[in-house]
Amino acid sequence: MRDQMVYFAFAKNDETKRPIGMNAPAKTEEFAVAQVQAKIPDGVYAETVLAVEHYTDRLFRFRMTRPAGFRFRSGEFAMIGLMVGDKPVYRAYSIASPAWDEELEFFSIKVPDGPLTSHLQAIKPGDRVLMRKKPTGTLVLDALTPGKRLYMFSTGTGIAPFASLIRDPETYEKFDEVILTHTCRDVAELKYGFDLVHEINNHEFLHEIVGDKLKHYPTVTREDFQYRGRITDLIESAKLFTDLGVPALDPAVDRGMICGSTAMLKDTKDLLEKAGLVEGSNNKPGEFVIERAFVG
Ligand SMILES: Cc1cc2nc3c(=O)[nH]c(=O)nc-3n(C[C@H](O)[C@H](O)[C@H](O)COP(=O)(O)OP(=O)(O)OC[C@H]3O[C@@H](n4cnc5c(N)ncnc54)[C@H](O)[C@@H]3O)c2cc1C
Ligand SMILES: NC(=O)c1ccc[n+]([C@@H]2O[C@H](COP(=O)([O-])OP(=O)(O)OC[C@H]3O[C@@H](n4cnc5c(N)ncnc54)[C@H](OP(=O)(O)O)[C@@H]3O)[C@@H](O)[C@H]2O)c1
Repeated sequence: MRDQMVYFAFAKNDETKRPIGMNAPAKTEEFAVAQVQAKIPDGVYAETVLAVEHYTDRLFRFRMTRPAGFRFRSGEFAMIGLMVGDKPVYRAYSIASPAWDEELEFFSIKVPDGPLTSHLQAIKPGDRVLMRKKPTGTLVLDALTPGKRLYMFSTGTGIAPFASLIRDPETYEKFDEVILTHTCRDVAELKYGFDLVHEINNHEFLHEIVGDKLKHYPTVTREDFQYRGRITDLIESAKLFTDLGVPALDPAVDRGMICGSTAMLKDTKDLLEKAGLVEGSNNKPGEFVIERAFVG
């Protein structure tokens, strides 16, 4: 179940979409004091948290200010961090907001004893989050050759780079159809994906650009739900294509992006290669690209 909502904003100038509430973990006050006292390292951005929304005891999203001059391509990741004691701790994070957004959004796991997320899960509006200056990544439109249908295959927090790309008008300029698959263990873990689609459908300009081009295909593996099973099994059985009413994978028109665990990347990549798609990169665009959602 979703924790009590803390504070959420979709677009900076839309105050109506900012429900307010609070669900601060116990360590917050102590942590906030430590943050204020800590010296911010040179050469990194220190941005202000604007909104936090907790989904489950493992997942939350937050928004923070975007530094003037910070440029990135939708789908890229950056190193974000916190001062823990007197030392900065950084981890790779996909930027979940699109390149045009005035704020930055992230979708995060909470690892109970994780060096970063055991603290990051306690942030609240007004706190500062560090960010290194150079974003990077392979889940970018530039790394794909032209096509008609773009598949975004994600598990868990692997949906984060696609949260950026499905909100970028360029995605819909380049593709006629965009299919976002999101597989989690439980239904509660799918909530961020449902919220994203809802926000797009209600957004002042995105809903017109996106129209009916975006198809969301959520599935779970350990609970009852309308769509069940690993995405790899659903590709192999062709149930994915039947459910969506699209033909089987075709390298002439289909393009793919994959983001999940190491095992999920490998298994999904094998299936795309079996269908004849060739992996690409920033230097050599191809028919699909991959990026790990976490190490391990
Ligand atoms: C390119 C890239 C992009 C990433 N983008 C995101 C992102 O957008 N959101 C995000 O939450 N994490 C993301 N991660 C993972 C992130 O870098 C950290 O590992 C995560 O924030 C946990 O940090 P930690 O210091 O608390 O624990 P760590 O010591 O980093 O991790 C401890 C263990 O927790 C598990 N774990 C870590 N991250 C995840 C995860 N996301 N989902 C499930 N299990 C995990 C792994 O088993 C890992 O060994 C990304 C990683 C990479 C390589
Ligand atoms: N999600 C939770 O409720 C939970 C709770 C506590 C701890 N953890 C731990 O956190 C870590 C990450 O868990 P997570 O749930 O975020 O990520 P995950 O284990 O990668 O699972 C996310 C989704 O991906 C599916 N998947 C796993 N391997 C796949 C593959 N090779 N091909 C296709 N799909 C695949 C899973 O299906 P399956 O269900 O079939 O594996 C699940 O639906 C794990 O070490 C886990 O033990 C998770």
